[in-house]
Amino acid sequence: MTDVVVGLDLGTGGVRAIAVDLQGQIIAQTTRSYPLLTPQPGWTEQNPLDWLEASLDALFGVAQQLNGHRAIALGLSGQMHGMVPLDAESRVIRPAILWNDQRTGKAVDAIEATIPQEELIQRTGNPAITGFQLPKLVWLQTEEPQAYARLWQILLPKDYLGYVLTGESVTEPSDASGVGCLNLANRQWDTDILNALNINAALFPSIVESTAIAGRLKSEIATRVGLPAGLPVVAGGGDNAAAAIALGISSSNLNRGSLSIGTSGVIFAPCVRPIPDPKGRVHLFCHVDGGYHLLGVTLAAGGSLRWYRDTFAPNIPHTDLMDMAERSLPGARGVLFLPHLSGERSPHLDPDTRGAWVNLSLAHTQADIIRAVLEGVAFSLREALEVISAIAPVHQLLATGGGARSNIWLQILADVLQTELIAPKAEEGAAYGAAILAMVGVGAYPNLEAAFKMLPQDSNVVQPQANLIYEAGFKRYKLLYDALKVVR
Ligand code: XUL
Repeated sequence: MTDVVVGLDLGTGGVRAIAVDLQGQIIAQTTRSYPLLTPQPGWTEQNPLDWLEASLDALFGVAQQLNGHRAIALGLSGQMHGMVPLDAESRVIRPAILWNDQRTGKAVDAIEATIPQEELIQRTGNPAITGFQLPKLVWLQTEEPQAYARLWQILLPKDYLGYVLTGESVTEPSDASGVGCLNLANRQWDTDILNALNINAALFPSIVESTAIAGRLKSEIATRVGLPAGLPVVAGGGDNAAAAIALGISSSNLNRGSLSIGTSGVIFAPCVRPIPDPKGRVHLFCHVDGGYHLLGVTLAAGGSLRWYRDTFAPNIPHTDLMDMAERSLPGARGVLFLPHLSGERSPHLDPDTRGAWVNLSLAHTQADIIRAVLEGVAFSLREALEVISAIAPVHQLLATGGGARSNIWLQILADVLQTELIAPKAEEGAAYGAAILAMVGVGAYPNLEAAFKMLPQDSNVVQPQANLIYEAGFKRYKLLYDALKVVR
């Protein structure tokens, strides 16, 4: 009977639970989905009880596949920034408001009118951002005062799950730093900020380290999911930090970051000290290893290509689109694309900016247009990488997500970012990272570095090639944001 650790990722589309043995082999996995609620334009919510049902089902599914293996710990990860409001009887007061919700514009302005943006960035690493949890709380205070009056505690998504599983309400620094009021230097809630906003610090859970045992599986839950009562539940990490751990990215190797091309494109760069961009153009969060990380986000990366396909080429397979892009030339024969289809996070932090194709002529073909989309996403990521590199230069990026499976897009990204890209053979994501954190949490490995030895080494390396056409294209691309800026 060998030992396994369970990792769970509470995502936006659904939950994934896996069981991993101590050599890193996945021996069981399940996923369950749940609905996304959009009660008004720009609002995104989910019902925490849907998360709970799906997570308990997923854990049950994994437990059923264990075939005699013994679960020794459970680690948690999940979507960041969401707000789960609980009353004194631990009941959910209203649906959770999610990371991609845009309702909090006024709350963001109110926070920055009370605490100057510069000070907020120095203390928390970030300006007030619509998706973060603190503006949601301020929104609740003004828009739903009756709900606010009933508040006992507000939790992040994965921490709510942890609370139901163990009865302990805690969080850990990687997710807490996405709330908007964590002091990055001491990794504790910033009571000066909360006092200035007239918010009771007791609404927030206490903070433990990411590899700490947050609590133990309650016996009634254990019976329902088929895992041992008293199973240690390790605090874990926000999904980006946990996914980085699954790739072996920590602040003990500052050379290596990651680039993920999913719906959004995310660049993750570890750093030792919390040095924010003075203008807050990229995020700065705590990493799960006691260090920190910078995060640059292009909201519509794979999302831009999917939108193109859905809108203009619904019957063309994805691989044919990529082949077509190959028939154009670097620089897309002069066509430029801005991928700000859902507004933009890094480096503009502008929910109202929009996308564009520029410089079209009668001579251009579909191949040029598609190639411009791939290059435009790469240019947007380069804008974020330039801000990141001024603080924490990375020389290699581990490339993951659907977009990284395309050779042409990988080469475009390497050339535009002028960075070596490494596409790992296996990518297991945040649930796997949560399992690694849990292994360290229960002492199966003495530390993360020791646990990283079990990660597969096989990978495909893409070297950047110098290309003056991309350099010229990027210069022109950078002029477009200001030229096309929506005046509010
Ligand atoms: C990070 C962010 C997203 C969510 C999605 O800042 O908003 O990556 O964590 O799950």
